Amino acid sequence: MEENINNLNQFLCELEIMSVKLQNYHWNVQGKHFFVIHSKLEEYYDEIREQIDEIAEHILAKGFQPLGTMNDFIQNSKIQEAKNEKIESAEILTNIIEDYKTLQHKAIEIKQEAEKVEDYETSALIDDYLKVYAKKLWMFNESIK
Ligand SMILES: [Fe+2]
Repeated sequence: MEENINNLNQFLCELEIMSVKLQNYHWNVQGKHFFVIHSKLEEYYDEIREQIDEIAEHILAKGFQPLGTMNDFIQNSKIQEAKNEKIESAEILTNIIEDYKTLQHKAIEIKQEAEKVEDYETSALIDDYLKVYAKKLWMFNESIK
């Protein structure tokens, strides 16, 4: 069970950093696709904020403590923050494709570990995340062609 909870906590940290990163891009996007990307990014970080709350409360419901400080989030996230500077939409898309792949890989790892220890609630919860990430990656990849 411990490994399973560690995975969920790492995932929580990656989601926290991703939320800040998407908001940073929401503020710093520039170029001819500004209006579309600016508003899409808001939709994405709102979605991630809901996922953060769901994962943290899932950890609590299982009787464990979710990580909860900015230091924890930064130290345990494979996703790196963005620089605070203007950025073109094409570069944002290229960067967030990699970040959503990181989230997808972590979600797969969580599901695999959860099934090993017969934690079917976690396994079932993660199914929705896998669907969301696969669909996003398809759309992002179409948008950069
Ligand atoms: Fe805004």
